[in-house]
Amino acid sequence: MVEPLRMGLIGAGNIAQAHMRALVGVDEIEVVAVADLIEERAVNTSKRFGIPHVFTDYQKILEMDDIEAVSICTWNQAHCRPSVDALRAGKHVLVEKPMSATLVDATEMTKAAHETDRILMVALKARYDSSRIAAKAVVDSGVLGDIYYAEAVACRRCGIPGGSFLAKATGGIGTTADIGVYSLDAVLHLMGHPKPVSVSGVANNMLGTKYASQAMGCWSWDPEALEVEDFGVASVRFENGAFMVFKTSWIMNMDSLGGNVLLGTTGGLKMNPLTVFRQEFGMLTDVTPQLPEVRDENTFRLENLAFAEAIREGKPSPIPADEMLLTNVIIQGLIDSAAAGREVEVHVPEV
Ligand SMILES: NC(=O)c1ccc[n+]([C@@H]2O[C@H](COP(=O)([O-])OP(=O)(O)OC[C@H]3O[C@@H](n4cnc5c(N)ncnc54)[C@H](O)[C@@H]3O)[C@@H](O)[C@H]2O)c1
Repeated sequence: MVEPLRMGLIGAGNIAQAHMRALVGVDEIEVVAVADLIEERAVNTSKRFGIPHVFTDYQKILEMDDIEAVSICTWNQAHCRPSVDALRAGKHVLVEKPMSATLVDATEMTKAAHETDRILMVALKARYDSSRIAAKAVVDSGVLGDIYYAEAVACRRCGIPGGSFLAKATGGIGTTADIGVYSLDAVLHLMGHPKPVSVSGVANNMLGTKYASQAMGCWSWDPEALEVEDFGVASVRFENGAFMVFKTSWIMNMDSLGGNVLLGTTGGLKMNPLTVFRQEFGMLTDVTPQLPEVRDENTFRLENLAFAEAIREGKPSPIPADEMLLTNVIIQGLIDSAAAGREVEVHVPEV
C-alpha cells in the first residue's frame, strides 16, 4: 500500500466542498491543510472533513515540507498567484477551471510549470465523462477524417451564478470562461489542439444587468453586481485551416443554441447524446453508443485520482497547462475583438 498523497486545499468555497466530498473514502489522497481568506470557511471545511491544519494565508500551506501538492479552488482571479507560488515552492498543482481569467495569467502559470518541472493540471472534470472519453476514442480512430469545422456551445437559458462570479475583481470574466471553457476544451481536445490564429467576437451583459431573477427556474443573482459578460460568441480560424464557431451564454431568451459538433471529411460527431454520422454499408448511418452514466461526484474523484497517479508515477499532467492555454488564447481573443469591434489576430505565447 503506497502512502497517500498529502495535499493542501487553497480556497474553501462551494467547489472545494465538491472536491472534498469526492475524496471521502479515497485512500490515495489525504488533505492535511486548508486555507481561505475567510477564516470561517476554512474552519468549517476543516471540521466537516477532519483537516488538521487551518490557515487564512495560503503561504503557510506552501511552507509545509510534508505537503507535496495543492488543490486550488479559489475564484478565477486568484488562480494565478497561488498556482505560481505553489509551483515555485516545489508543489504540484491542481487548479480549478478556467485556468485563469486572462491570457497573461495563463501564460505565467504555464511558464512556471515548465520552469519548475512540477505538474500543473487544470481541473476540468468533463474530461472524465464517459461520453467525452468515447468521443475522443471515435476521433482518434480516424473515422471522421480531417476535421474542418466545429461548433463549441455552452448556453443556459437563465443561469447566472451569483457571488464571486459576478465581479471583475474576483471572477474576472464571465460565461466565456466559466461554462464556455468546457465546450472550448471539448472541441479543441477532440480536434487535437490546433493553433488559433484569429478571432472575431462579441461579448455583452445586456440581459443580466437588467433582469431580476423572478421567473421560476431562474438562478438568483444581483443584476447591479454583474460586471462581467453573460453572453459571448466568436468565430475562430486555426492555423490548419479549420474553423470554429463558439457560443456561450449564462442567460438568453432561447432554449438552446445547439451543442458541440465536429464535421470531418469522412464523418461528423455531435456530443449530448454522442452520435457519429457516417456513410457505411452503402447507407447513411447514425451511431449512438451505449455508455455508462458517470455522476458528477465521480468525475471530481477521477480527476483527483488522475492527478495523484501522475505525481506518484512521474507521468505528465493529465490536463496540461499548454492545452488549456489555447482556451485562454481564444477567450482573450473574443474579449479583445469585442472591445475593438473587429476581427483580431491571436498568438499562442511562447512558453
Ligand atoms: N469544476 C466545477 O464543476 C466548478 C463548478 C463551479 C465553480 N468552479 C470553479 O471553482 C472556482 C471557485 O468557485 P466557487 O464556486 O467555489 O467560488 P466561491 O466564491 O464559493 O469560493 C472561492 C473561495 O476562494 C477563497 N479565496 C479567494 N482568494 C483566496 C486566496 N488568495 N487565498 C485563500 N482563499 C482565497 C474565497 O475566500 C472563497 O471562499 C472558480 O474558478 C470556478 O470557476 C468549478
